[in-house]
Amino acid sequence: MGRTALYRIVLVLLLGSLSTSCERSSTPASRSDITMSHGPDAHSYATPDQIVVRHLDLDWDVGFEDRTLDGSVTLQVERVATDADTLWLDTRDLTIGTVEQSGAGGAWRAAAFALDEPDPVLGAGLRVTLDADATRVRIAYRTSAEASGVQWLEPAQTAGGEQPFMFTQSQAIHARSWIPLQDTPGVRVTYTATVRTPAALRAVMSADTDLAAPLGGEFRFEMRQPIPSYLIALAVGDLEFRAMSDRTGVWAEPSVVAAAAAEFDDTEAMMVATEQLYGPYRWERYDLLVLPPSFPFGGMENPRLTFATPTVIAGDKSLVGLVAHELAHSWSGNLVTNASWRDFWLNEGFTVYLERRILEAVFGPERVAMEATLDWETLAEELDRLPPPDQILHVDLSGRDPDDGFTQVPYLKGELFLRRLEGLVGRERFDRFLRGYFDHFAFRSITTADFIAYLDTYLADTEVRAAVDVDGWIEEPGLPDDAPRTESDALVRVAALANDWAAGDRVSSTLPAAAWSTQEWLHFLRSLPPTLSTARLDELDAAFGLTEVGNAEVAHVWLLIAVRNDYAPAWSRLDRYLVEIGRRKLIKPLYDELVTTPEGRARAAAIYERARPGYHPIAAASIDEVVRASE
Ligand code: BES
Ligand code: ZN
Repeated sequence: MGRTALYRIVLVLLLGSLSTSCERSSTPASRSDITMSHGPDAHSYATPDQIVVRHLDLDWDVGFEDRTLDGSVTLQVERVATDADTLWLDTRDLTIGTVEQSGAGGAWRAAAFALDEPDPVLGAGLRVTLDADATRVRIAYRTSAEASGVQWLEPAQTAGGEQPFMFTQSQAIHARSWIPLQDTPGVRVTYTATVRTPAALRAVMSADTDLAAPLGGEFRFEMRQPIPSYLIALAVGDLEFRAMSDRTGVWAEPSVVAAAAAEFDDTEAMMVATEQLYGPYRWERYDLLVLPPSFPFGGMENPRLTFATPTVIAGDKSLVGLVAHELAHSWSGNLVTNASWRDFWLNEGFTVYLERRILEAVFGPERVAMEATLDWETLAEELDRLPPPDQILHVDLSGRDPDDGFTQVPYLKGELFLRRLEGLVGRERFDRFLRGYFDHFAFRSITTADFIAYLDTYLADTEVRAAVDVDGWIEEPGLPDDAPRTESDALVRVAALANDWAAGDRVSSTLPAAAWSTQEWLHFLRSLPPTLSTARLDELDAAFGLTEVGNAEVAHVWLLIAVRNDYAPAWSRLDRYLVEIGRRKLIKPLYDELVTTPEGRARAAAIYERARPGYHPIAAASIDEVVRASE
């Protein structure tokens, strides 16, 4: 008997002995029973092989005063096992009011339920006992002001400074902190939503809506394509829309929307390029929402409406690889989805590969060669840092918070694996393979084994299958010897200049940096030796104004150098940077570097005390680990 089956039996016995009246269970199961997921996903209590949720009707009042969503969800359920009577849902910090059930068209009646004691990673399982005829479950509930997947911003944290703002971030397992549902990417749902807001504000969601709906306190949404829970998203704020083409546009605060539309104006061209390669865009519209700077990620591929950090608005389109990336998820991720967080590389590795193909089509091969070189270095550094089990594409994350388990490995090693396959079968054939893969698995959630089986069928007739160690790439740590390398002429030149400068053979004013792209700047700075004197840094700073550079990525690398070399002139910018920006990828490495020395630790603690209230709960949880662990 498999372990899961055994657990299930133990669980059934255990549950049989617990009360399932309309109260919280007063005798919670012991810790070891709670931490165990019950179904195929280590990060969800859901048992979709028993009863599966197919559709959600959501209804909320958005309360900025008490920082809660208050309302209800109606779940349409389907029995997979005919005798199943328990619907397991995921929750985190939710206050459950009533739980009701009904048969098709029938009246609502109470359903017995019990909310377990919370597990620190998974949250609390919610068990609802259903009658044999029940097809719908309605749960009235309220979110906590500390919900891990919601950030509530004061007006001062927005560009406009006058209205509050809120947004959700569900990936990986935060949807459960604002909706009780089967929070696993293995389950897909359609949804509708009604959202009531303060009269001056607008709600947007990862769904179809009337773009021209007037303000007035109520907005309606419908997502007709089945999506996993981590793609359900909501934002409310002072938002204005600017069309970029007849199917693309951007939402942002009024003072940001023009710059955003200018920055992202290649979006339609990117869509055309992707459709030519991988088939039709299946979500009708592609819009972007620019969030306030506390958004904890670069971008989040919420369907029809990518959420993006304002730090990509560099003024020169140099960071719009992020748009290519989030757009690519419309195929890899949103259409064909990782079935669990173990299979995350299917989402991100494929997406980085697609992102590169889109960038190549729109901006040409040199831009892609630069990105690939920078990524190679990033991956090498990451592999140096990670224990072997975390270097595996098909990584075991059970018992861990997936937020802590995500690294550059699924992204960059995943991309190299696909590029290796492309090299073996040839680009044309690989393009056909990917197109077939997206069609074959469209609107499905798949495991790594599903991918391998599909690849094996595709490669069955060629010698290619024998030429590549698929198992080694997917199940082993490290980077296989056949990982493809890219060389960028531009970056080779920049690295040589960095060497000359570091050796003292060149002064800053003679560097041909006026024409450098963001990627060349990043490579130059990353190619400098780890230790540099204040005098050398002063000279570089005086020539190029690096301490005050506007580009958030370049500033990030410069500030890392500053911290590493105790470069005092950068302290005030470091302070502003860490207080203003909440994007985890940009801030966490700075805290990591700071806490390596006693003075740095003190600086980190002082800055963090002021910055933390502005950070998203997801970013704060990561930085807590760094700063508090160092105390
Ligand atoms: N889906 C991810 C963001 C994510 C991953 C959120 C895991 C929560 C858990 C998104 O597509 C992404 O990868 N964003 C990157 C940008 C991209 C250009 C690599 C980011 O936010 O840095
Ligand atoms: Zn991604």
